[in-house]
Amino acid sequence: MDNLDWHERFSVQAEWTKQLRQYLYQQVGINEKSRVLEVGCGTGVITSELKEFNKIQAAGIDIQLDRVATAKKIDPTTHYGCADVNHLPFTNNHFDFVVAHYLFLWLRDPVKALNEIKRVLTPGGFMVALAEPDYLARIDNPQELWQLGELQTKALILQGANPMAGRQLSTQLHQAGFAAIQYGISGFQEESDKIPPWFDSEWKILENDLELISSKQELDKLRQLDLAAQQKGSRIRWVPTFYAYGRKDY
Ligand SMILES: C[S@@+](CC[C@H](N)C(=O)[O-])C[C@H]1O[C@@H](n2cnc3c(N)ncnc32)[C@H](O)[C@@H]1O
Repeated sequence: MDNLDWHERFSVQAEWTKQLRQYLYQQVGINEKSRVLEVGCGTGVITSELKEFNKIQAAGIDIQLDRVATAKKIDPTTHYGCADVNHLPFTNNHFDFVVAHYLFLWLRDPVKALNEIKRVLTPGGFMVALAEPDYLARIDNPQELWQLGELQTKALILQGANPMAGRQLSTQLHQAGFAAIQYGISGFQEESDKIPPWFDSEWKILENDLELISSKQELDKLRQLDLAAQQKGSRIRWVPTFYAYGRKDY
């Protein structure tokens, strides 16, 4: 997959949390005067939305230079930079809000990252993390598709992801000294007998993730089973996806 494929994928994922994002931005008080940083911005879907939809001065950083280059190409007027969330190139107390979307599952030491985020936040500012999945609590139905969930979790672990990132998020905010922490799980609703519009995009990722641990034949079979279950209205695929936010008090 190239970065434009990833951009398409990140845009699909961003749709899943769109309503929640607007709710959380309201809860923490993000407004047009806020200075907002997205950490782990990928190709810039969430950062650019902040600017376009919420008319906010937002900046994004990501550790992958090629992703940052794609973000800049798609939205040249937003500030994107290449940096590690553990070493942010900003002075203390620089931002009113820091946002992260699908980032913490990829971090080896989330508390270290949260401490660094706290450094660049102004006192009274909020860290808002959302879309952090918990693959160990994933539910698949019918039973012949349990294997698909297990394979995807295994592949993510092999790529370095923490499959329990979701359930650990609010504890980590607490460990990093954030106050007034709130956490929850994103709402989820699907029509049971329709092929979801993201079915092909989901399978593109699955094929990409699972190519090292499954054969093409096995994947084709699982895709057929998935499609048939969707058509019969028996398919359930749910990964509890957490959000949490907390305030820097000092
Ligand atoms: C799943 S993507 C999400 C991208 C974007 N937040 C979105 O939702 O559209 C996670 C991103 O986090 C970035 N990332 C991982 N570790 C990072 C780190 N230590 N510092 C900064 N970015 C990091 C990856 O390069 C990747 O682009």
